[in-house]
Amino acid sequence: MYFQIDLDMDPIGVESLLRCSALWGVGLIVAGLISVVPGDAGANASTPSARLEIPLGLDIYMPIPEENPLTRQKVALGKRLFSERLLSRDRSLSCTSCHDPRRAFTDGRQVSRGVVGREGTRNAPTLINRGYGATFFWDGRARSLEEQVVQPIQNSNELDLTLAEAVSRLRDQRTYRRRFQAVFDRQVEAQDLALALASYVRTILSGNSLYDRYLSGERDALSVQARKGLQIFRGKGNCTACHLGPSLTDERFHNTGVAWRNDRLLDEGRFEVTGNPEHRGAFKTPTLREIDRTAPYMHDGSIRSLEEVIEFYNRGGNPNPTLDSEVRPLNLTKDETADLLAFLRAQRGIVQEGLGASAKYNRQGGPE
Ligand code: HEC
Ligand code: HEC
Repeated sequence: MYFQIDLDMDPIGVESLLRCSALWGVGLIVAGLISVVPGDAGANASTPSARLEIPLGLDIYMPIPEENPLTRQKVALGKRLFSERLLSRDRSLSCTSCHDPRRAFTDGRQVSRGVVGREGTRNAPTLINRGYGATFFWDGRARSLEEQVVQPIQNSNELDLTLAEAVSRLRDQRTYRRRFQAVFDRQVEAQDLALALASYVRTILSGNSLYDRYLSGERDALSVQARKGLQIFRGKGNCTACHLGPSLTDERFHNTGVAWRNDRLLDEGRFEVTGNPEHRGAFKTPTLREIDRTAPYMHDGSIRSLEEVIEFYNRGGNPNPTLDSEVRPLNLTKDETADLLAFLRAQRGIVQEGLGASAKYNRQGGPE
């Protein structure tokens, strides 16, 4: 089986059921449903229990911290905050400015642009399936989503607001006062802002791709060319050395040489977090789901197209002193390159966010 259910590991301990009905024909399988506990605060007693639907291809078990259970109201509040411009210094930007749901939660720019046009040094990664993540940011400097989500607010190249200012702006709004009170049973606090945003980010999922359908037994879901590409992905291309598992990432850090230019590293990556010299120029392996919708690529957005990404790997990345031993010249033929590309394009699935009947985005990226 491609996905598994482990009741012993279910952190919310309510009920998890695997509904593996053979609906191959319509290509939509409800792999499982995670029940979400009703509200954590007294005021929530009446909240109807919500369900996070895990799409085909993803692990039925998503680790959700005990101190931040998913509730319908909290996720809805997080969603609202995710597009709240009050959270930027000049009230011009929100999380969606750089993580646009219509672009699989990326911004299409080489590096992101924050308030008053300030540019950072890194490309905005997609936020899909981050609920399964182990560390966050390209260098893994945040260890939980709760820790991560408030950093863009404070980053001077992004939203550029202190948490105290953010909290005071939210307290000034009657709606937010009411909604935080309903979810957390107290006035707006910075830590609750983090809990709500993290809960929403956990509901951003992509699954049910052609590749998932193929793996679940629908042999024709992948074209002949994409199937050949899959063989290269697993074999000659050696991509599965790092891109594996339900989201095609090992969640670890590798140096493929992207940051190496003119005999030096432009970005030390993971090394800045750990101080371990072996981590120089290493970055977190990104997911390959929705990959043909999230250009440009790599931590610095330096590669514009998937064709160029394959070229990069084909030549063995950028050789440098800490290059990962799994990266080496591949000698792919023109046909093999085209096959691999077809396989990468089959990673488009259905992006969903929020709980219950909220928006889904289809393979074209428009609302469904
Ligand atoms: C100005 C653009 C910008 C804005 C606004 C922004 N982000 Fe990001 N986001 C980025 C960039 C760039 C990175 C990668 C930075 C790095 O790794 O150093 C990132 C990384 C992330 C990650 C880590 C993903 C991963 O794979 O590790 C999460 C989660 C995230 N952002 C959530 C948010 C939330 C929530 C907000 C709103 C509070 C937000 N972002 C606002 C640009 C932005
Ligand atoms: C040694 C581990 C490793 C191997 C092998 C590997 N990758 Fe990667 N991949 C990574 C890392 C790490 C990154 C991010 C590098 C960076 O930004 O500096 C990445 C980035 C990518 C990206 C860009 C994703 C994005 O969102 O920006 C694509 C596409 C990709 N790899 C495809 C492949 C393919 C196809 C293969 C096989 C030919 C492959 N990778 C082999 C580790 C690996």
